[in-house]
Amino acid sequence: MNCRVCKQRAAVEIRRHNAAFCPDHFVEHVQRQVARTIHDYEMFGPDDRLLLGVSGGKDSLALWDILTGLGYAVDGVYLHLGIGEYSSESLILTEQFAAERDLALRVVDLPVDYGFSIPQAAATQGRSACSVCGLSKRYLLNDAAAGYDALVMGHNLDDEAATLLGNVLKWNTEYLGRQAPVLPAVEGLARKVKPLIRVAERETAAYAVLRGIEYEVEECPMVAGNTINRLKERMSVLEANSPGVKQQFLFGFFERGAGHFEVGEKTELGSCRSCGSPTTGDVCAFCRVRDRATHPLEVRES
Ligand code: FES
Ligand code: ZN
Ligand code: ZN
Repeated sequence: MNCRVCKQRAAVEIRRHNAAFCPDHFVEHVQRQVARTIHDYEMFGPDDRLLLGVSGGKDSLALWDILTGLGYAVDGVYLHLGIGEYSSESLILTEQFAAERDLALRVVDLPVDYGFSIPQAAATQGRSACSVCGLSKRYLLNDAAAGYDALVMGHNLDDEAATLLGNVLKWNTEYLGRQAPVLPAVEGLARKVKPLIRVAERETAAYAVLRGIEYEVEECPMVAGNTINRLKERMSVLEANSPGVKQQFLFGFFERGAGHFEVGEKTELGSCRSCGSPTTGDVCAFCRVRDRATHPLEVRES
């Protein structure tokens, strides 16, 4: 197959676009997809202060590269979750990436700053590691984004389509109402944007390789049982038979489905008694997890 643009030999084929590209034009194609997403959903402008959540994986590092290539000034925040070597290696790769490009990186260390790790928290809660991890990340990223105009997330097309499928399978209407390319800021919660949603996972990997980005290739060791990953595998089977189905599913939802699930009455948000962050309860979910992880015995007795 030849590159759609220059007719040289293609390096990457994108079946859902019925197109193939040489390395240079593939990189341009991905950058254009991201620029178009930022523009179409009015995610941010050139003067906005942006904070990107970086994990050391291909998606977030590729997105950092793309955004700086497009001329945006973006700081990064890395969350050290205390997941053994996986966390330490991802941190080294993220620091290297930032240092080589002279980008500002902030590191939040869960064990050092909050006194517990994700494996510790998972062992003391009646919930999966991924759910504790997910709620901790949301909390810490939101906290880090104070003073920024937007918190930028590296979710790709596969992540978002699988999340949507998971929410549809359970008819989780509240989550469906909140699944959008842009989540506006509300009382104490940062504006969240996802510029990578038009780019598939294998494309962010190809982009990272072609751009010479060294990223963490290992999966999180606590991934066993992760529902989103299982749904991603299922969707990839559908995609192999019908190229474009993931994109149609996700963008069809944004265009024609999402409006039906808009969150109606805003739930009253109060302040967490312990940390002051917005919550619907008395103490926020993160503080409850931290309490149980740092005082496991007291909880067991109560
Ligand atoms: Fe779920 Fe790492 S904790 S993938
Ligand atoms: Zn080309
Ligand atoms: Zn709290």
